[in-house]
Amino acid sequence: MLRLADVDPDVAKVLREEARRQQRNLELIASENFVSEAVLEAVGSVLTNKYAEGYPGRRYYGGCEVVDVVEELAIARARELFGAEHANVQPHSGAQANMAVYFTALKPGDVVLGPNLAHGGHLTAGSPVNYSGKLYSIVAYGVRRDTELIDLDQVRDLARAHRPKLIIAGGSAFPRAIDFGPFGEIAREVGAILMADIAHPAGLVAAGLHPSPVGVADFVTTTTHKTLRGPRGGMVLCRAAHAPALDKTVMPGVQGGPLMHVIAGKAVAFREALTPEWRAYQRRIVKNATALADALLGRGYRLVSGGTDTHLILVDVSGRGITGKDAQEALDRAWITVNKNTIPFDTKGPMVTSGVRLGTPAVTTRGMAEAEMAVIAGLIDRVLSNLGSSAVEAAVRGEVQELTSRFPLYPERTT
Ligand SMILES: Cc1ncc(COP(=O)(O)O)c(C=O)c1O
Repeated sequence: MLRLADVDPDVAKVLREEARRQQRNLELIASENFVSEAVLEAVGSVLTNKYAEGYPGRRYYGGCEVVDVVEELAIARARELFGAEHANVQPHSGAQANMAVYFTALKPGDVVLGPNLAHGGHLTAGSPVNYSGKLYSIVAYGVRRDTELIDLDQVRDLARAHRPKLIIAGGSAFPRAIDFGPFGEIAREVGAILMADIAHPAGLVAAGLHPSPVGVADFVTTTTHKTLRGPRGGMVLCRAAHAPALDKTVMPGVQGGPLMHVIAGKAVAFREALTPEWRAYQRRIVKNATALADALLGRGYRLVSGGTDTHLILVDVSGRGITGKDAQEALDRAWITVNKNTIPFDTKGPMVTSGVRLGTPAVTTRGMAEAEMAVIAGLIDRVLSNLGSSAVEAAVRGEVQELTSRFPLYPERTT
């Protein structure tokens, strides 16, 4: 069999170098993770060749009897994992999962009440640069200045004043658990549809470590590649009553052929997620995030909302006289990978920011535990306390490499 290295040495080199970077660096981006070899195998399979527009048993193409099985498996496992009446596993990404719900529930111009991007929301919840902000009339809620927790009084007041058709709960930079119950009450009171976007905490939700919106929200959207540790992709869960309309919106409404190789990867990841070992992994993610947060607090950092209940920490670096951008770039040079992120009421724009977002799913997958979180907090602190010092960055690079070499990742892919 011809191998990639023989056919295309340039791309083979990129794959090897990226595997080496992933092995060498400390991956603290809250939305990233490392999938299992089994998921990689499914995603790199011959299923990429198959067109299967439609749904199992009712496709527009012939020859779908084999891929039907894998989509049925993915659906059944997703429903079991989240206790959902219906699952659509075809969305190519989280953004398209959200688009599918909007196109199912709304008409252009309808009012949507969603979380402010600058307070932890996501682009797809109404940012003016995103289709959601262009197509719908967006009203944004935020967090309280004193607690930095979602301001449910504001959500209720805005809902009563604007009578939104859709309310969105969930985002990409909320370190605290979201209680979907009050969102459900507010939605019912004003006659709105409730969508919960659990792209970030989906793994914790599946493991029972974060409140579940299933049964409360009309639609639940998620990515499959963050805490869930599956392939890059999206999914929508909903009540059975919404299923026909949702499925029609996903295809033919917003997508064409499903990515059957990715759906196979989702099926594998959901099977993994149904095991007790995986639940224990999710518990370790949260323990590690708490340990990392405590260690940073111990070193004098201010954390948005004072800490975390989840896999995610938002560090306010402005007190150190630096920006999120400075911090991200310096940590990058020290082989610690994070992303700059606005903090609530940030005075700096999204390309500069006053914060960095950290997450523990990826380092936890590698087997790191609370002792390593204390070490990581120390490494971060050294880089940020000596901003721009190439000597410190070089020393930290050495320590990062020493640490990561004790937790091998994809060993056969780095050589
Ligand atoms: C809350 C939330 N929703 C949606 C998305 C979009 O997911 P994707 O990048 O797969 O389109 C993200 C991605 O970061 C997210 O955090």
